[in-house]
Amino acid sequence: MTIDRRQLLGAAALAAGAAALVSCTGKDDDAGLKRLMAGDGDWADFRALFAIDPEWIDMSAMLLTSHPQPVANAIAKYREALDNNPAIYLRDNNDRLQEGARSAAGAYLGIAGENIALTDSTTQSVALVYRGLKLKAGQDVLTTTRDYYVSHEALRVAADRSGATVRKIPLYETLDGITAEALADSVIRELKPNTRVVAMTWVHSSTGLKMPIGLIGERLARHNAGRGPDDRVLLCVDGVHGFGNQDATLDSLGADFLMAGCHKWLFGPRGTGIIAGRADAWPALDPTIPSFLDSDGYGRWKRDDPPVPTTAAMVTPGGFKPFEHLWSSTEAFKLHQAIGKAKIAARTAELATQLKEGLTGLANVKLRTPMSAELSAGIVSFDIEGGNPWDVVEHLQANKIIASVAPYRTPHVRLTPSIRNTPDEIDKALEIIRGFRAAA
Ligand SMILES: Cc1ncc(COP(=O)(O)O)c(C=O)c1O
Repeated sequence: MTIDRRQLLGAAALAAGAAALVSCTGKDDDAGLKRLMAGDGDWADFRALFAIDPEWIDMSAMLLTSHPQPVANAIAKYREALDNNPAIYLRDNNDRLQEGARSAAGAYLGIAGENIALTDSTTQSVALVYRGLKLKAGQDVLTTTRDYYVSHEALRVAADRSGATVRKIPLYETLDGITAEALADSVIRELKPNTRVVAMTWVHSSTGLKMPIGLIGERLARHNAGRGPDDRVLLCVDGVHGFGNQDATLDSLGADFLMAGCHKWLFGPRGTGIIAGRADAWPALDPTIPSFLDSDGYGRWKRDDPPVPTTAAMVTPGGFKPFEHLWSSTEAFKLHQAIGKAKIAARTAELATQLKEGLTGLANVKLRTPMSAELSAGIVSFDIEGGNPWDVVEHLQANKIIASVAPYRTPHVRLTPSIRNTPDEIDKALEIIRGFRAAA
């Protein structure tokens, strides 16, 4: 096979790909995208960016996204360039494009791009932070029984290796009538003199509870006053289910590290995530995977230099990877910024409230998610009396509505409306739930 023929085949495949993109999104122009980027698009413009099968009501923003038009286009463009000449394109563009992604993520969270590590998922971010922490024997890590498998597992291994202990507090008995103050109190009163880490989840993927992370951060700042960098309590947050649907910055959360995937509520490229860290928090971590982003990493290795304080670049895993996805996360951040974080948070709350109000009106349904926007985001969890959650999800799927079961000891049905959904879709989901009959 000659190079010419390969190039010809590549060009033909790309043309076919581009045609497929147009035909599956049903769009051959980018007028809606232009309106959105100019800040005057509407929700229909946003929805039209996705190639999602119109037969389905997709309320699965908490799982894995379909790529919106600007992200899909960027991936296609970079993939073509890499397919044409991977080594040279990478050499000439990787630094610029990775720094672009870090800057865009930093701007989104109100911090400098140099304090962003680029990862492939929330799971990887959580593991890099918890297993990278320089924990010492006898130190205490405070978390809750309500946190997710990935945090618990990463913490378990971190504790085994270091001799630190992990304490899982129950956090609350019931969510009925719970307040942000009560939740923050439950955490803060459990601090011990040797507590080094508070490991929290922003929005719980079991009940949809949104933790008052900002309040906890504020109280921890008071607790930390006068403590040195090696014994202040670090607030580490798995933020994925608030990231992309809440209006917050790293500072407003008061977190030292925020770990999140970009491929859920942010609608970024599949297989991308971030760690956002306070400038002075990075040295608390050891890098786990050698970095290619750290500009002097190879230099120190060749000179046999002693280790230097850890930076976000050093925590970014090295290795060659699907760079076209990593680079295209910039487009997702820009799209969210153009629409506006406050507007996105308000729309998410509006749709989730519609769903929650509808569910509370159904006699046999028990809503598990707090009603207030202060204590919830886009995840809506519920149970149907006498119905096992998998049967409910199957019933919804049989009616072309995507829901999921929370993979926790106590499973609940989850519907996760996002800014991609419409009020009519919420009504339709409620109608289908009303028609569910538990097996006798
Ligand atoms: C709280 C929480 N953290 C992390 C994850 C995993 O996210 P990722 O797919 O980005 O690794 C999930 C579920 O998908 C989750 O519910």
